[in-house]
Amino acid sequence: MLGENKVIFSGVQPSGNLTIGNYLGAIRNFSAFSEEYRCFYCVVDLHAVTVRQVPAELRRRTYETLALYIACGLDPEKNTLFVQSHVPAHCELSWMLGCSTMFGELSRMTQFKDKSQKHADNINAGLFTYPVLMASDILLYQTDLVPVGIDQKQHLELARNIAIRFNHLMGDTFTVPDGYISKDGMKIMSLTEPTAKMSKSDPNKNAVVYILDPKDEILRKFRRAVTDSGSEVRYDEDRPGIANLMSIYRCFTGKEYDEIEREFDGRGYGDFKAAVGEACADALAPVQAEFSRLMADKGYLESVMKAGAETAARAAARTMSKVRRRLGFIDLK
Ligand code: TRP
Repeated sequence: MLGENKVIFSGVQPSGNLTIGNYLGAIRNFSAFSEEYRCFYCVVDLHAVTVRQVPAELRRRTYETLALYIACGLDPEKNTLFVQSHVPAHCELSWMLGCSTMFGELSRMTQFKDKSQKHADNINAGLFTYPVLMASDILLYQTDLVPVGIDQKQHLELARNIAIRFNHLMGDTFTVPDGYISKDGMKIMSLTEPTAKMSKSDPNKNAVVYILDPKDEILRKFRRAVTDSGSEVRYDEDRPGIANLMSIYRCFTGKEYDEIEREFDGRGYGDFKAAVGEACADALAPVQAEFSRLMADKGYLESVMKAGAETAARAAARTMSKVRRRLGFIDLK
């Protein structure tokens, strides 16, 4: 048995550059899940190589991403934290599920279309079958719930369809997962163009605050944040610049909008932007300190990876044995 608890699985690419949008909308809230769910958080290095990577950088960012997860509050004793390439079953299941996923389905994925435009010189087969690997990540652990950003909704829908089809053709094998799309994270917008989402790959670095940005950088970015005409700190969706800053301030301080309005009554945007910067930098300081401490201890990070991979592999093996039998492969004990 996987245990009575329901299962959560999420994957994050080893880009290292997570933003305060990722933090507030996702990672910060992940630690609470471990009370109720069996949680698997995976650094998806196999997904990362669908675009060209510099090996030394990929390796460093894989450590960094794991360290950042732990620094953001995910306790390796309570969550299974692991690296995708350390559990070969992900690739194995991916091949098997790929054989029941249609070319047409994969052709409709908007991320594939976007990425093939962006990397026109490297439209490789992995880029195309990326969603099958993602479905395998999820289905291997009989996942109930998948916390993801809204941009992954289409991939999640495909994972559900792959599971439903397999269950229908071969007999009940996979739990059909639900997505958990957090609302707060979607609300963190770019600092320079507050009608667009804050995106870690935005070429304009002033638009994005990264979890690992030093304090002076954070203060500077908020000071330069685009606000609307007007000078009152008042929540109004028609003034997306100030609304975004208020939403960020609210997330970091826990204060509600009316409270924030009172706090900054009669004070201008300048004061408020400085306060948002301070609140953000203060909240991130302990995360950054813990991150540095962990990055200085690769031995510890590797021990987490190892223990995580063992736990994950054990859970994955149960699903693989079922899948092998369903498909007609000989499952040697
Ligand atoms: N494709 C996801 C992204 O780019 C990462 C990912 C890979 C993932 N496997 C997953 C997310 C499984 C959730 C579940 O963000």
